[in-house]
Amino acid sequence: MTDYKRMIAIARSLVCDVPHLVTRLANLSALVWDSLDDINWAGFYIADDDGSLYLGPFQGKVACTYIAPGCGVCGSAASEERTLVVPDVHEFSGHIACDSASRSEIVVPIFSGGRVAAVLDVDSPLPDRFSETDRVGLERLIEAVADELFFPEY
Ligand code: SME
Repeated sequence: MTDYKRMIAIARSLVCDVPHLVTRLANLSALVWDSLDDINWAGFYIADDDGSLYLGPFQGKVACTYIAPGCGVCGSAASEERTLVVPDVHEFSGHIACDSASRSEIVVPIFSGGRVAAVLDVDSPLPDRFSETDRVGLERLIEAVADELFFPEY
């Protein structure tokens, strides 16, 4: 079981005073990868002004580089501005299959300056992998670092 309290404390330290967005996201993706059992992909898609999503730092197999606005689980979570938990990706109309092993997925939007600036995407080879505890834990993790993540480079 994931210790989200510990994970959030580590996440804060990984983004604090770290002067590049890619560096901050890279270590956060590694933290998620290391902290959750039974996952096969963990990483970020970064939003353009028009809602397009571009692949950011991640752990796992190579993934699609671009997601059009509102498409897939990631684009839906971004456009609906809410976390999406998909117990069975085969049942999600428009799911984009990057790794055919993926069976369930969670996508958490990351807000900055009043808009969705990125999403955290985590996939699992197990159906129904992500519980309410995971949803709340990952949302708290993202809330804890969001302000620091997209702070202008310093
Ligand atoms: N499944 C996602 C695409 C990204 S990969 O899972 C890494 C989606 O439907 O948006």
